Amino acid sequence: MDKERSPFTPGNPVPVELFVGRAQQIQELIRFARQASSGKQENVFLAGDRGIGKSSLASFLRYYVSTQMDMLGIHVFLGRVTTLEGMVHHIFEELLKETKTEPWFENITKFFGKHIKEVGLFGISVSFNPPEKELKDLVRKFPEALGNVLEKIKEQKKGLFIALDDINGLAEKAEFANWYKSFADEIATHHKEFPVFIMLIGLPEKRDVLSNLQPSLMRIFRVVGIDKLSDGEAEDFLCKAFDKAGLEVESDAVRPMVRYSSGLPLLVHEIGDAAFWIDTDGIIDKQDAFQGVMTAAGKIGEKYLDPKVYRAIRSQRYRSILRKLGHIPISRTFKKKEVEAELTDSEKGVFHNFLRRFRELGVIEPDVERGRGTYKFVNEIYPLYIMMESQKYLKT
Ligand SMILES: Nc1ncnc2c1ncn2[C@@H]1O[C@H](COP(=O)(O)OP(=O)(O)O)[C@@H](O)[C@H]1O
Ligand SMILES: [Mg+2]
Repeated sequence: MDKERSPFTPGNPVPVELFVGRAQQIQELIRFARQASSGKQENVFLAGDRGIGKSSLASFLRYYVSTQMDMLGIHVFLGRVTTLEGMVHHIFEELLKETKTEPWFENITKFFGKHIKEVGLFGISVSFNPPEKELKDLVRKFPEALGNVLEKIKEQKKGLFIALDDINGLAEKAEFANWYKSFADEIATHHKEFPVFIMLIGLPEKRDVLSNLQPSLMRIFRVVGIDKLSDGEAEDFLCKAFDKAGLEVESDAVRPMVRYSSGLPLLVHEIGDAAFWIDTDGIIDKQDAFQGVMTAAGKIGEKYLDPKVYRAIRSQRYRSILRKLGHIPISRTFKKKEVEAELTDSEKGVFHNFLRRFRELGVIEPDVERGRGTYKFVNEIYPLYIMMESQKYLKT
């Protein structure tokens, strides 16, 4: 079977038709979007760990509000942006791109004035390059500038949805926290009708950073959190994705893929993708699934464990403990005592510190359900990689 294109998108927002779960959050967010489009400005902080599905949810929501609620939606990635000027630049450029194909684009361009350039082959993309001074004005008069955009689109659109993704860098700046506070205050006091829904997206700890910088901000934001997918949702996703690619999946192949994904959307995609390319006959069977899991474990380990564990840890004793952990029959949970039984006296001496270090690195966590002295890996795939590394070491 010739394959051209995998339905999996590890690391990129999932396409709308393969989106699973998050029903409760979506319901909530749609309610806020409705309020916004009726004129009440809304602010949400979408919090979740890396790879849990924040950008995907934002992209789903943007699709929903654009197609079902007649709002103009933009999704702005601010991962590398650390200044307010950089932020407004991205926001307005995205607004331009989004309206480029609309018949009323002309209306908008008037507002952006002479700083718009059609770029790229055949002028199919636009760029917005105002001088620094005007960017500073846009920062200062952000409510007014958005108000002007709203004015221009009010015949066609019911409001504006702006997702500011990966604001982790900005969230650490007092400047940003203060700016947002005065933005929201100004809207609340001077603009009765302001149909704008702003959603900041970042790691949960950035929310705390923001509220420390500007305590009253947290009265402005509604916080929405996302966590792991259920096994049922992961299964649902895998079936949809393979089906989209015209592949069959045997039921005993789904189980290991779901299990090793540990509810983490990023892992579901890595595993599914690996199995997709390994399969040769159009039917994903148990063997394809297991090979997929191993391949994905290798990739995930290289990406996440290698840099922060294998390359960062120099201690010979730590390394040797790690290898011994890899020989204990792979399971996600382990008892401190059981591992200790395998260690030399000198390794035992540092084992406590080893465990602390690995907790700090986000590799293991205490297993509260099983009680004191029990730990578990944060997902199922890390121990698999650790085992693979130990075996490699034995062979060399
Ligand atoms: N609801 C979902 N359904 C299916 N796949 C998802 C879902 N959410 C996220 N993913 C997938 O998981 C991975 C991480 O998602 P992403 O949205 O980039 O997470 P984050 O922005 O939190 O880092 C991506 O490969 C994405 O395609
Ligand atoms: Mg993201």
